[in-house]
Amino acid sequence: MLALTTIAFSLSLLGVSLAQIDHVGINLADEVGKYHQPKRSTPTATCLVADALQTASFRTGLENGTAGIRPGLTESPTNEANFINFCSGLDLTNGRQNPNGSCNGIPMGRIPAATNMVSTLITFPQPSDRLSPLTTFTVTLQTRHLRAGHLVNPSAAYYAAPQDLDEHGDILGHVHVTIQEIGESLRAGQAPDPAVFAFFKGVDDPGDGKGNLRAEVTGGLPRGVYRVCTMTAARNHQPVVMPVAQRGAQDDCVRFEVGS
Ligand SMILES: *[C@@H]1O[C@H](CO)[C@@H](O)[C@H](O)[C@H]1NC(C)=O
Ligand SMILES: *[C@@H]1O[C@H](CO)[C@@H](O)[C@H](O)[C@H]1NC(C)=O
Repeated sequence: MLALTTIAFSLSLLGVSLAQIDHVGINLADEVGKYHQPKRSTPTATCLVADALQTASFRTGLENGTAGIRPGLTESPTNEANFINFCSGLDLTNGRQNPNGSCNGIPMGRIPAATNMVSTLITFPQPSDRLSPLTTFTVTLQTRHLRAGHLVNPSAAYYAAPQDLDEHGDILGHVHVTIQEIGESLRAGQAPDPAVFAFFKGVDDPGDGKGNLRAEVTGGLPRGVYRVCTMTAARNHQPVVMPVAQRGAQDDCVRFEVGS
């Protein structure tokens, strides 16, 4: 029915990455390919193989008779080739963190089973804790089903490969810890500007192997009201992608104060 076995797409030869420090103490010893299952050979390096074609993308999802239709849904864009040329003519992400925005054509990749979804809890600080100003403290986290300690070079391979799983079906990735001031009160009412943060750290290490991770806030924080959040990521720094929409959150936030 569908003669779409080989669809060529143009390779970007755009090159050099924008150097932006994302992580302190980058661990480049990531074992690339170790967890990959064998792949079929491809006709050429730049063609879509027939069994990788997703036919659901041929349709908007709102065709008459489609299950799940209800008022308020929008039509999905359609494409008969996995959107492989979606970014053609646009500024490609191409491994860079481009603050101007960009278009990323890399597939989302392998998605865990519902039994392996990521979950995180911040265990320190606790809600409403009051910490001493300018005093080193350690944010501690507990995670489930994240194979931590896997992160690629954020200056050269940002979003440059799909999400992947380990031999147990857990996402290979890492956690970021980010802290922002949220105003005068724990009961803040304004969404903070994501471009402004008081602390940021990628947790590079695998932790204790039981899901416990930590990030030291060296020198502490000035007096203020803050929100600490986790941002769980797959290996190439993309937010973790989950198998079902209805679930608990993969990340956690806690609001706390620094003051005397
Ligand atoms: C889809 O259904 C609507 C109303 O149920 C009808 O008006 C429309 O003609 C149908 N479209 C097609 C392509 O069958
Ligand atoms: C972002 O946009 C500015 C202004 O147009 C430009 O000078 C800069 O080179 C752009 N950065 C990247 C990484 O494309």
